[in-house]
Amino acid sequence: MADAAEEQPIKQRKNGLYAGVSDELAANMKSGWADTELRDLEPIPQAAETAARRARLSERFPGERLVVPAGNLKTRSNDTEYPFRASVEYAYLTGNLVEDGVLVLEPTGETGHRATLHLLPRSDRENGEFWLDGQGELWVGRRNSLAESEQLYGLPCADVRTVADDLRKATGPVRVVRGYDAGIEAALADKVTLERDEELRGFLSEMRLVKDDFEVGELQKACDSTVRGFEDVVRVLDKAEATSERYIEGTFFLRARVEGNDVGYGSICAAGPDATHLHWMRNDGPVRSGELLLLDAGVETHTLYTADVTRTLPVSGRFTDLQRKIYDAVYEAQEAGIAAVRPGAKYLDFHEAAQRVLAAKLVEWGLIEGPVERVLELGLQRRFTLHGTGHMLGMDVHDCAVARRETYAEGTLEPGMCLTVEPGLYFQADDTTVPEEYRGIGVRIEDDILVTEDGNRNLSGALPRTSQDVELWMAKLKA
Ligand code: GLY
Ligand code: MN
Ligand code: MN
Repeated sequence: MADAAEEQPIKQRKNGLYAGVSDELAANMKSGWADTELRDLEPIPQAAETAARRARLSERFPGERLVVPAGNLKTRSNDTEYPFRASVEYAYLTGNLVEDGVLVLEPTGETGHRATLHLLPRSDRENGEFWLDGQGELWVGRRNSLAESEQLYGLPCADVRTVADDLRKATGPVRVVRGYDAGIEAALADKVTLERDEELRGFLSEMRLVKDDFEVGELQKACDSTVRGFEDVVRVLDKAEATSERYIEGTFFLRARVEGNDVGYGSICAAGPDATHLHWMRNDGPVRSGELLLLDAGVETHTLYTADVTRTLPVSGRFTDLQRKIYDAVYEAQEAGIAAVRPGAKYLDFHEAAQRVLAAKLVEWGLIEGPVERVLELGLQRRFTLHGTGHMLGMDVHDCAVARRETYAEGTLEPGMCLTVEPGLYFQADDTTVPEEYRGIGVRIEDDILVTEDGNRNLSGALPRTSQDVELWMAKLKA
């Protein structure tokens, strides 16, 4: 291990502050440091689940070496990096969230694997790495030692700095989860194929379709924090009116950072006509009384599970008649969608149920020519409904994205699956096919629905959904 560290050039901080280090200072910095090794650490709470997941993966790919990287820091500009988020595949299988980590499952014969977690060890004090390297612990904070990580994650840990070389030299079939660690992929370039690697990634995506109890608990935590974040926003709507949508973004972000790891995706804080842009994340528009605020935001927990919740709120606290009519239609569609979420249902049933309600409303209001069956057959309602009615939710907001069609979009719901139900109606500000009063109104209601043994549970149901309950809730919070 020490040898490996010595081979590594120290990436001295680019600002050059320490360009000239005297021998005396270098010698001085080597000693005088206390032993801070942590002993008798408790394993992470999900250690049993991560072990069970690795066992399922091992069973699916007997006799093959499997490589799952966490990923590396990405440069934002010059010598600053984006906040790091470990790959979901790595986090799911290990619970570890640290950059540069690599999980390797080494086949032990025709069946079975030995899993090793490769991590950066504590910074070396002898060679000055800990204070001269930009990623040294003096700069970025203490890391767990390999022995500490073994206790935390419940699997053998080794120095990651030799893993690329070891993988380059290794023989036998191997697969890697691509897209996270260019160095590891380069080491394996002549041993892997895209098709086989995609099969590994697809399997890991499908494994996550059904959440275990730990994951359900985390999703509930994410939703509970998100509910508090929405309450925070309602309390500061007057400040948002005095500034911009950014006040809403910042307010929700504070809750996400204090209670969780981050927001699970860029918050959509869309007031007035901005709500008609599905991925409005500039959040720099005005917030005006009399208009609606569409807030689509989710807290991500420390274990990376995110909520994905939308409420459309009247900034003044009261819907106008037209806003209420549109809101109530979306609510009715959401109710129909949620009612279709149960074990044994086809995945797309909830989408179809919600679209049918919205198409009928659009015909009833004279915005589309009926009959409803014709509208649905030709998809004409989509001018105003714009997007699918939901998606799987988990560590990714659009979770399990590389699962095969037959297990996801064309699959069947099972207990433990968690999905969003999020119908919407959007009338673009420049849409001349609708009466003027509709233009610039966007409404979406989005909740996170767990499939249970006998139906479903709304994990974000602590937030009000009917127009009347929304008004009562806002009045209470603003009082
Ligand atoms: N927040 C993204 C979505 O609702 O899918
Ligand atoms: Mn959303
Ligand atoms: Mn969503």
